[in-house]
Parts: sequence; structure tokens; C-alpha cells
Amino acid sequence: MQYTWDDISQHVMACTECPLSRTRHLPVMGRGNRQADIMLIAEAPGGCEDEQGIPFVGRSGEILDRLLRDCGLDRGEIYMTNIIKCHPPGNRDPGEEEKEACFPHLKYETFLLKPRIIVCLGRVAAQRIISPDFRITRQHGTWVCRKNCALTATFHPSAILREPSRYKSVAADFREIVKKRSQLTQT
Ligand code: URA
Repeated sequence: MQYTWDDISQHVMACTECPLSRTRHLPVMGRGNRQADIMLIAEAPGGCEDEQGIPFVGRSGEILDRLLRDCGLDRGEIYMTNIIKCHPPGNRDPGEEEKEACFPHLKYETFLLKPRIIVCLGRVAAQRIISPDFRITRQHGTWVCRKNCALTATFHPSAILREPSRYKSVAADFREIVKKRSQLTQT
């Protein structure tokens, strides 16, 4: 069965596959350019995203926009989504069952987008997508290649809110992402 973007979106909006559907306000479908070659995957919507149904509209979103701007990208050129589409109360880490219940949404988003580059924002996304033992502090900015797709991870923008001195190294990771994209478009 070949799902369309509309199918995935409708499924996300009506999803009751895990208990977060009872506490969320709005589910948050991924957003951005559906022809993008760069896909950002974060952890889960925060409180502002839950209110508006749009990823990265809160304070983390402001940091993300600054990171994008500083490396010459903007939201219109990328696709951004989360491992889980509903806000976990109190911003707790998503549970294993919640991540597994929601994973098909991400799988179909990735299948339709076919990104050349996947960027995991934060530990939770990196450990689900790259490797369960991924250490974000030690391994951010490193690359692996899987099925014609280059994968990397960097700190989640909220980690910069907690520790502003991290901005520089995350900005350096974003510059490497842009470099990788230009290398890949030459191949
Ligand atoms: N934090 C996330 O991980 N995702 C969002 O969409 C917003 C904040």
C-alpha cells in the first residue's frame, strides 16, 4: 500500500495509538518542504507546538531559526518532524511504547521524502534513529551512511537554551550539514 502525505497527515491528526492522544491538545505533523533533501528529526512537540499543531514554534524554534539562518538555510528548504507527534505531559522523555506506536508515521514521512541527509536533534532522536548507544556529547557532528542517506546528530535547540555556550558547536555542526549537502549534490 502506497500512502500519500495526506494519508499520513490524516492518520496523525486522528491517531489514538498511544495514551498521549488523551492528554495532547493538537498532534503535530511534520512540516516543511516535501521535496527537501534535508530532514530534521527532533524528539517530541513541546507545549507551544501542542497549542498550535506546528513543530518548533516555541523558544527552541527561535534557536533553530537562528541556526538555520547562520548557515544559510531556512525552513522553506528543509523538512522537520519529531519521533513522536504528540506532546508528552511535562516535557518528559517519550516512553518506549509511545515511540514504537508513533514510529510508522516517521517511517512513511521518510519513505515519501527520501532525504539525502537526516539530522537528529538531541539524544532521544539520535538513539532511536542512529544507534541506541549514541552519545550526543561525544558523537555530535559525526556521520554515518545508510541506504544512500547520510545521518548525523547535534544537540537539541533546547540544550542551547539550557547552556547558551553550546551554540557555537551546534552552529559548526549545521555548517557541516550544508557542506555535506553540496558534496552530495555533486555526486
Ligand atoms: N522540541 C521538539 O523536540 N520538537 C518540537 O517540535 C519542538 C520542540
